[in-house]
Amino acid sequence: MNKNFYITTPIYYPSGKPHMGHAYSSIVADIFARFKRLEKYQVLFLTGTDEHGQKIQKEAKKNNKDPKIFCDEISETFRSLNKKLNLTNDDFIRTTEERHYKSVKEIWNRLVESKDIYLDKYSGWYSVSDEAFYDEDEVEEINGKKISKLSGSSVEWVEEESYFFKLSSWGKKLLKFYNDNENFILPPSRRNEVIKFVEKGLKDLSVSRTSFTWGIPVPKNNKHIIYVWLDALTNYISALNFPDVNDKKYKSFWPADIHIIGKDILRFHAVFWPAFLLAAKLPLPKRVFGHGWILSDEKKMSKSLGNILDPIEIIDKYGIDQLRYYLVKEVSLGNDGSISMENLKNCINNDLANNYGNLCQRVFSFIKKNCGNKIPASTNLNVTDKKFLDNLLKKLPHLINLMNNQNLNEYIKTVVGFSFDANKYFNDSEPWKEKKGNLNRMNAILFTVSHQIKNISILLNPIIPDATNKVLKSMNIPIKDLNIENIKDLNILNHDKELNNLEILFNKIEDDN
Ligand code: MSP
Repeated sequence: MNKNFYITTPIYYPSGKPHMGHAYSSIVADIFARFKRLEKYQVLFLTGTDEHGQKIQKEAKKNNKDPKIFCDEISETFRSLNKKLNLTNDDFIRTTEERHYKSVKEIWNRLVESKDIYLDKYSGWYSVSDEAFYDEDEVEEINGKKISKLSGSSVEWVEEESYFFKLSSWGKKLLKFYNDNENFILPPSRRNEVIKFVEKGLKDLSVSRTSFTWGIPVPKNNKHIIYVWLDALTNYISALNFPDVNDKKYKSFWPADIHIIGKDILRFHAVFWPAFLLAAKLPLPKRVFGHGWILSDEKKMSKSLGNILDPIEIIDKYGIDQLRYYLVKEVSLGNDGSISMENLKNCINNDLANNYGNLCQRVFSFIKKNCGNKIPASTNLNVTDKKFLDNLLKKLPHLINLMNNQNLNEYIKTVVGFSFDANKYFNDSEPWKEKKGNLNRMNAILFTVSHQIKNISILLNPIIPDATNKVLKSMNIPIKDLNIENIKDLNILNHDKELNNLEILFNKIEDDN
């Protein structure tokens, strides 16, 4: 069985400060990457920055900076955000790197060789902010300004010599591919959107520009710059040392298991990218998952609306686990979701502080007081204890399935439910009443609930890694090779060593905070 797993985030435009939308894509991908590692997969998790094109060139100019220097600086802010987000990315690619140039040039040459590229003239609408060409029927006029109906960004009329990619000739093959691979585009609503778009008929795509210079020159005609999306999408194989298709990394990890993207860039990933790959005679990724938008005050975040939420501010104030948990609990993956400070506070207080945090604290302090700070060993589990533990074990395959189908919200709901049940089990079992007359019973309760804390901590580990690692470490469970199998293991608890002190995991947030 192939135990390799390759997951990617979009590569971000270093045109300004990273915001919550970027953080969201990255956190979601990190959660899946971490989960696959728990399943003992060899994971490659890639993220990075998309540094070429007119948008970046303009932005650099506005800041009076050379584009490369401008990108060096902003790319670094994305890198440092990754650390703050606690991402476990294995690589960070920049499209200004040599390894990427090599790979893009090879893709270009392959497309030329397959006769999928020809020279002509482009005239039509272009949005610099989306780096996208739009058809007449995708553009509308609002207050005298031409706007893309799809993204709301302003478009400008472009007329220039351009190389074209024969996208029109790949429509049927793409439709067949979508049909044969039902889960290639998820969620299903996005799949339908893409199929409709392709069924309408595809036009050839302009894949080079001549009106600016910041990008990768077309081989043998450096008057032209390769279209930034052809350049950017290729990053996913550049990081695997393409064009060396015999390279171990490429062989182990291509095709990618999943590209995590926002719904705004679905067309590029689910139509253009597979068409380029088909033409280049390369295998297609297995899945593209398009998540929804994070809305702030019910609106899409944008500089002009001034409603951009800064992830760093929230992390510094409340903590990274809190932000990770909140984003994926509150926003249903695949749909748009509003976030607000009010909800963030409620979520931290209810789910994290009162539920999981409280469970760990009260059980550990009871053990400290009554069992010499060591988790009692017990073999005397009664029917209730066994049923309680079994309930989670029985659901494990279902939980794994949920994660492998990116049903993150259902997964979290179920796991948080276990934590709620564990609090209830502890209350109902009343170990404090057993400590005088029936030590055996008390030990069995503590053994059982400790196991469940360990299990819940493993399941929550991809989502709130810091807190769960603290809990597991406190229980003397090695976190280095932590994996899903540890859930079933009744012998993993250490009964000889004292629990390590567990600081408060989640501070409750008061109203005026
Ligand atoms: N550079 C391209 C992607 C190239 S991938 C080969 C790009 N970059 S971007 O910086 O504009 O945005 C990238 C991603 O950030 C979006 O696809 C989406 O995943 C995420 N988000 C940006 N704003 C967002 C929200 N408000 N909400 C959720 N995610 C959004 O497009």
